[in-house]
Amino acid sequence: MSGKIFDEYPFEVHQIDESSKQFLKSLNLTTDLVYVGPKKYVASPAVTTDGLNLLNLQARPDDIWLFGYPRSGTTMTQELLWLIKNDLDFEGASKEILDHRFPYIDSIFYMDSSKWIDVCNKSNASSEVKEIGLKYSNAHYKTLQETSGNRFIKTHLPISLSTPTVFDAGCKAVYCARHPKDVIVSDFHCNKLFHPDWEKLQFSDFWQLFKRGLLQNLPWFEHVKEGWARRNDKNFLFLYYEDLIKNKKESILKIARFLDKSLTDEDVDKLIQHLDIEKFRKNKSVNNDHFTDLGIASKNKEHQFIRKGKVGGWKEYFTPALNADADKWIKDNLKNSDLKLPDI
Ligand code: A3P
Repeated sequence: MSGKIFDEYPFEVHQIDESSKQFLKSLNLTTDLVYVGPKKYVASPAVTTDGLNLLNLQARPDDIWLFGYPRSGTTMTQELLWLIKNDLDFEGASKEILDHRFPYIDSIFYMDSSKWIDVCNKSNASSEVKEIGLKYSNAHYKTLQETSGNRFIKTHLPISLSTPTVFDAGCKAVYCARHPKDVIVSDFHCNKLFHPDWEKLQFSDFWQLFKRGLLQNLPWFEHVKEGWARRNDKNFLFLYYEDLIKNKKESILKIARFLDKSLTDEDVDKLIQHLDIEKFRKNKSVNNDHFTDLGIASKNKEHQFIRKGKVGGWKEYFTPALNADADKWIKDNLKNSDLKLPDI
């Protein structure tokens, strides 16, 4: 299929409401956000331009798409999908960073081409790191159109704001989900990683931001319910981060079956070792240290991209009062839904 799917952005876009703006202002955070469509997904105002280009990126039968709200284990799942599909080419994986092998297409909402060039020009990083940075200046939706063969594509956008062609091209798609309490903790650190000026933000304020749906791609329950609704579709795999952590072998074999690949016990062992959190954190191909080297991410190790990698870390962050509030939020959002949350 070629040609445009949409001539103009098909969803209604509104300014966020005044009380949300006031709340964001009270935390010194940007109010430059919009609501999109009936579920009021939060997005950058660039959604009507860059978001339109993403909607017009045609899926192909050989594609592998990965969906999931940030901090749900998408990086680990990307690496698994890429390695299994490429017959465990660990050497190839080490030669090119994951973001370039398996682009995260909506990163454009955070940094566009000109900003990348500017950052790389001003950076004192090594020429190798600058080269990695400059490659981000090519908008993924353009380079992917020029890519032949298997394409690996990740998005944190909700399914309904992504190209609908994923579901009629005959390609494979995966959705990663994780218990929201652990997602919130991980997202708290991730936002501090990529917005060093958020360093002083308190966890209780971040919880309010999340609950009120004031970060891009929220509300969380709507996002996950869209993946959950597809869980029995052909060519669609719904995964929980917690299963990947607790039942590594079974989860890896499930992904391999989904990709029509077979793995020996030795292959599975190699993949499990590769995913070991200590090793993964040091793996330059996946750990995103280049963002810190380029001066656009925090140096604070507490927030590093590959962080703790465990289930249940929320217990160290939610006070009894916040936890009661979170339990109520969860209960309210699970009313009239068969969505299952993993044990944590
Ligand atoms: P924590 O911050 O709780 O440690 P995403 O890749 O979707 O952004 O998800 C990031 C979360 O997955 C982070 O969780 C990160 O540490 C964790 N993660 C990444 N690689 C992992 C691995 N190999 N094993 C376990 N957890 C991993």
